[in-house]
Amino acid sequence: MTRPAPTSFIFPQILNSPDFLRYLNPKSQPSSISSMDAVNSLDVVDETTSFQVKSFFESAPLLKDADSISGKLTQFIHQNFSLPGPRRVVCVTSGGTTVPLEQRCVRYIDNFSSGHRGATSTEYFLKSGYSVIFLYRRGTCQPYCRSLPDDPLLECFKLTSDSSIQVHESHAEAVKSAISGHHDAVSGGYLLKLPFTTIFEYLQILRLIATSMKILGPNAMFYLAAAVSDFYVPWESMAVHKIQSASGPLDMRLAQVPKMLAVLRKEWAPTAFCVSFKLETDKDILLEKADNALKKYQMHAVVANELSTRKEVVILVTKCGKVSVYRENDQSVVESPLIKLLVEKHSTYIRDTNA
Ligand code: PMT
Repeated sequence: MTRPAPTSFIFPQILNSPDFLRYLNPKSQPSSISSMDAVNSLDVVDETTSFQVKSFFESAPLLKDADSISGKLTQFIHQNFSLPGPRRVVCVTSGGTTVPLEQRCVRYIDNFSSGHRGATSTEYFLKSGYSVIFLYRRGTCQPYCRSLPDDPLLECFKLTSDSSIQVHESHAEAVKSAISGHHDAVSGGYLLKLPFTTIFEYLQILRLIATSMKILGPNAMFYLAAAVSDFYVPWESMAVHKIQSASGPLDMRLAQVPKMLAVLRKEWAPTAFCVSFKLETDKDILLEKADNALKKYQMHAVVANELSTRKEVVILVTKCGKVSVYRENDQSVVESPLIKLLVEKHSTYIRDTNA
C-alpha cells in the first residue's frame, strides 16, 4: 500500500527562492552579522532582520479595525501628553499569540501565558501614576480581576426570589474593588485596553502603539511580557480551508518570526525605556540568554523568569547587574517589588536623557 505524501503548505516556488531560504534560516546567508557585531551595531537594524520584518508585514492579513485602533491611540496619547507633568505611559503586552495554520482558521499553534503577569503589572503601574496601554490576548487575565473566581459571572452573582441579580456576600469585596479599580482607570483616561489573538494582530498593533508613543520621548515605556510566537506560517503559503486529515500526516515548515525587539528599539520607539522578558524552562541557560537579549537588542532591562517559579521570583537584568526580586509572602505578588524597581530605573533614565 502506498503511503500518501505528507502535506506541505509552503509552495515549492517560494521554498526554493534564495530570499525565502534566507528568511527561514537567516544564519545561512553570508552577509548575516555575528552576535558580537549585533552587540556593537544596533545603530542600524541588520539587513536580514529588515528583510524579515518587511516580508512579515507585507504578507500579514490586513488588521481589522486599524483605523479605530489608531483613533483610540491618538486620543489616549494626546490626552496624556497634554496633562501637566507630563504623564508617563507604559505599553504592557500580555498573554500568548496564536499562529493560525489555515486562513479560515480551525487549527492554530499557541504560546502559553495566562496573562497574570501583564494584568497584575498593569495594576501596579497605574498605582505608580503611569497610564497604561494594555495589549492583551483575548480571554486572558484582566487588570483588577485577580481576586475573582474563574467564572465570575456565574460564581459571584445569584438570582433573588424576585428575579433580580445580587452579589454573593463572599465575593462582594472582590467585585466592588474590581469594578471601581477598572472604572476609575478607564473613565479617568489612564487605561486603554487593546485585544489581539494572532501573531499578525499582535505585531501590527504593537507597531501602531510604538509609533504613536514616539511623541512621549523618554516618558514612554515598553514592558513586553507577552509570550510571542517564534515560528509562524506566512499568510500567502497558508492553506485557505481546513486542512484535510484524509491527506495523511501533516508536514509543515514554519518560518521564523522576526525578533521585533531590535526594530522596536531602533526604529519604532528609539527614545522609549524598553523592558523585555526572557522565559526559559531550563534555569541553567536562563541568565545567559537574558544577558544576550540585553546586549543584542539593547534593552534597558530584561526580566528573566523560569516557568515553574515565575510567580515567586524573577531576576532583573540590567547593565548594572542582576537583582533577584521575590514576592514578600504567599499573599503578595512579585509584580509589586518588580514594578517599584522598574519605576526607579525609568526615573533615572528620564533624568539622564533630559540632562
Ligand atoms: O502570563 P503568565 O502566565 O503570568 O506568565 C508570564 C510569562 C512567563 C509569560 C512572562 O513573565 C514572560 O516571560 N513573557 C515572555 C515570554 C517569551 O516569549 O519569552 P521569549 O524568551 O520567547 O521572548 C523574549 C522576548 O522577545 C519577549 O519580551 C518577547 O516579547 C520578545 N519577542 C519574542 C519573539 C519575537 N518574535 N519577537 C519578540 O520581540
